[in-house]
Amino acid sequence: MTTNAFLTDKTVLVTGANRGLGRALVDAALDHGAKRVYAGARQPFTHPDERVVPLTLDVTDIEQIKLAAKTVEELDVLINNAGVASYAEIGDRAELERMLAVNLYGSYDVSHALRHQLLASQGTLVNVLSTSAVAAVPVLPGYSISKAAAYSLTQVLRALLTPKGVRVHAVLAGPLDTEMSKDLDIPKTAPEAVAAEIMAAVADGVEDIFPDAGAAGLAAGWFDAPATAMQRELAGMIAA
Ligand SMILES: NC(=O)c1ccc[n+]([C@@H]2O[C@H](COP(=O)([O-])OP(=O)(O)OC[C@H]3O[C@@H](n4cnc5c(N)ncnc54)[C@H](OP(=O)(O)O)[C@@H]3O)[C@@H](O)[C@H]2O)c1
Repeated sequence: MTTNAFLTDKTVLVTGANRGLGRALVDAALDHGAKRVYAGARQPFTHPDERVVPLTLDVTDIEQIKLAAKTVEELDVLINNAGVASYAEIGDRAELERMLAVNLYGSYDVSHALRHQLLASQGTLVNVLSTSAVAAVPVLPGYSISKAAAYSLTQVLRALLTPKGVRVHAVLAGPLDTEMSKDLDIPKTAPEAVAAEIMAAVADGVEDIFPDAGAAGLAAGWFDAPATAMQRELAGMIAA
């Protein structure tokens, strides 16, 4: 077993945990010695490891979110992973709203509901985004817009929560070999490899994480870029 201190004997919640990257993140947390992993899913599932606690959690259902926040009394690491994508054209407002409901408001509502637990534990918040948050994919308009908004949310939460002891990370992932990207005939990275990279980067304190080859091009120069410097400068207004 490999262990990362931020996970060893810690309690973790992963949304969208039933398949794809979410399932790989659950297994990675277990591999790193997590004490308990809440596996949030619209259809809860059983996992062979007894440390996994199934949690009914549709991230667009505010009542389920409130109930989850009551059930989860202690939490060290929250991973907002649940997501949806759509090729619907930009004129399809209903699809844009569906993307925003899951990819933006889902993460917003779950993070808000669990903030007391994260503040109490001086914990870690991880928002799974996409390279489309910073370089829009025009054939995925609603998805790109929602991920860009969720990246902005992540920056705001980072500025507000870091001074209070909660670390906030963005995962800017490239194409993954999951159901979501099954129709894309391009190089994709296995979710297990991406999950391992995310855990290693969080342990190393990397705030914006580029966990795969498809995202590597963006990572080059990112941490010295003017936009990144300005993010830090503006965050400093809160810290002050
Ligand atoms: N695949 C890619 O190429 C790629 C690239 C960059 C970033 N990402 C991001 O990685 C994350 C995981 O995606 P994936 O690749 O693993 O895709 P996936 O296999 O399609 O999994 C998506 C997960 O989100 C869940 N979900 C969808 N709507 C939900 C809701 N309302 N409430 C709770 N859970 C919901 C799904 O649950 P159900 O089974 O109930 O539908 C599923 O568990 C997403 O945030 C995605 O945007 C993916």
